Amino acid sequence: VKKIGVLTSGGDAPGMNAAIRGVVRTALSEKLEVFGVYDGYLGLYENRMKQLDRYSVSDMINKGGTFLGSARFSDFYKKKIRSIAANNVKKRKIDGLVVIGGDGSYIGAQKLTEIGVPCISIPGTIDNDVAGTDYTIGYFTALQTVVEAIDRLRDTSSSHQRISIVEVMGRYCGDLTLAAAIAGGCEFIVLPEIHYTKEELVIEIEAGIAKGKKHAIVAITEYICDVEKLARYIQKKTNRETRATILGHIQRGGAPVVYDRILASRMGAYAVELLIQGHQGKCVGVQNEKMVFNDITNALKNMKRTFKRDWLITAKKLY
Ligand code: F6P
Repeated sequence: VKKIGVLTSGGDAPGMNAAIRGVVRTALSEKLEVFGVYDGYLGLYENRMKQLDRYSVSDMINKGGTFLGSARFSDFYKKKIRSIAANNVKKRKIDGLVVIGGDGSYIGAQKLTEIGVPCISIPGTIDNDVAGTDYTIGYFTALQTVVEAIDRLRDTSSSHQRISIVEVMGRYCGDLTLAAAIAGGCEFIVLPEIHYTKEELVIEIEAGIAKGKKHAIVAITEYICDVEKLARYIQKKTNRETRATILGHIQRGGAPVVYDRILASRMGAYAVELLIQGHQGKCVGVQNEKMVFNDITNALKNMKRTFKRDWLITAKKLY
């Protein structure tokens, strides 16, 4: 292995820059050349790459976003597009790629490996929804952001004795919502992993009111329902003023917190080591604080993340 590439793909996550830095600095210390690919698989297909040196990643450890840019490029599912991208890599004599992103990016990395571009993927997404790792890069920063937002909502919903609904990202994974709800002391939690009806939620809220609760915060994962409509429904049924807040892309920005910086640096370095050792089609993870790797195919097809039911049980006791 003499030359490698690195790209970030899918939704950005705080810590992606730290991961790129980890890749670049490790590669250079192993006397490899490194190329940065702009805008994920789109840039790979359009042959937009640039050689990086140690100064390309100066002052990047603490910066949110990804300086290489990222994209959701659904055309990469097309064989023809992927083979053009693979040829661009081969023409430049790049021996392997480090792909930083979520499970969509893993699929791309697996497909590229199949057509002769050895890839190692690193989990970078705020959703913490990737199998084969306890945590993904960006999750802890987003969690901090969500909890700070909930703290602010608590102030105002307490002043006005209102019910506040806060919609949290996570796609189809409730990890971010559940952890934020515990840390933010939310009274009610709605997650994709658990059965939910608005009628049952109202019964729970009413029981809270009967206990003497003057205000409440409901944390809910995105894509479960229209939270504005839910707010109107709760207000009508409980006769309590109810407001909905969609945190949105605020959750994706900001300087990475310490844990994400460390995780990203370790994963970046480890991915390069794996390429040097001749591994391909693998994804990096952290399990019980140790770096691990798995087959991407296995992570995508067979490995499931387990829902933290015990966390939810604890959370409910604290309502
Ligand atoms: O995967 C990260 C994420 O922020 C999800 O939580 C969310 O559903 C999605 O990306 C939003 O995607 P986009 O930035 O393309 O709107």
